[in-house]
Amino acid sequence: MSHPSSLTITRPDDWHLHLRDGAALASVLPCTARQFGRAIVMPNLRPPITTAAQALAYRERILAALPEGADFQPLMTLYLTDLTPADEIKRARDAGVVALKLYPAGATTNSDAGVTDIRKTYKTLEAMQREGLLLLVHGEVTDPDIDIFDREAVFIDRVMQPLRRDMPELKVVFEHITTREAAQYVASAGAFTAATVTPQHLLYNRNAIFTGGLRPHYYCLPVLKREVHRLALNAAVASGNPRFFLGTDSAPHASQIKETSVCGAGCFTALSALELYAEAFEAIQALDKFEAFASFNGPDFYGLPRNTGKVTLQRQPWTLPEVLPFGEAQIKPLRAGETLSWRMS
Ligand code: NCD
Ligand code: ZN
Repeated sequence: MSHPSSLTITRPDDWHLHLRDGAALASVLPCTARQFGRAIVMPNLRPPITTAAQALAYRERILAALPEGADFQPLMTLYLTDLTPADEIKRARDAGVVALKLYPAGATTNSDAGVTDIRKTYKTLEAMQREGLLLLVHGEVTDPDIDIFDREAVFIDRVMQPLRRDMPELKVVFEHITTREAAQYVASAGAFTAATVTPQHLLYNRNAIFTGGLRPHYYCLPVLKREVHRLALNAAVASGNPRFFLGTDSAPHASQIKETSVCGAGCFTALSALELYAEAFEAIQALDKFEAFASFNGPDFYGLPRNTGKVTLQRQPWTLPEVLPFGEAQIKPLRAGETLSWRMS
């Protein structure tokens, strides 16, 4: 098996990212701007970004927080609610917004304004289908009677299948898929359905949350699953199917929010996202599929141009810092204090 000492690929993009706002935004944005040309910025602020005007203002705050000379473009999204008016979609498109995010109400961090019944949003989804905006889906039901490890699979039956039937030409991204069921569903769903895959769901199964004690930094939503699911996600990205692409779901929370009795969901991976993905692709001998996953499949599905620059990863062990500043607080990157084998130069 080949064992390259470096890896040069077209500058990649992150198709699912949480940047937060204010001082937290200023702390984490440089990590992403260094590695990626563009990122799809999640709208789950408090209050959420629900209008084109709010998205434009948030975009300005992101641009203002960029380091000097950074070559990075934020791609903005709106948070879909039961009440998002259909005529907001044209304003959103004119403002450069590329997608709306569907959070089932209560599914995850800052999702209480989310959708209670997708049928309430159909007029708006029809407008999106017409105007060419994408729907990005947090694919978990919130029914407390459904086991948390089954919520993604149940979502496919209860929400995805009817949605695909009713809006066949709406481009839908099933975000941060975590199960064999979701990987199989997306592979068989046709040209208008794609998925993002995070580094943590390629690298870890649910044992990581419980190894030697409870490890809050491995807790994200959708939660890590059994090994059989991790293997299915790896097989999906190794297949080279262009409808699977990179989306870190880097979701920063201050250490005191993670290391407490009720821990916030999210893994902070923006510092070393490409290195983590390279490790995952190398482990399955699929480095030849890495560039398309990271740099081609996302823009192709979104209908955007591919980036033109390059980035290089060196095989060069380095140790991740234990903590980074996060506004006034601190944040721990996933794998804090551990050694990675790839390093972006
Ligand atoms: C995200 C966050 O913290 O905003 N958390 C996470 O675990 N992924 C929300 C989300 O994407 O579900
Ligand atoms: Zn997310």
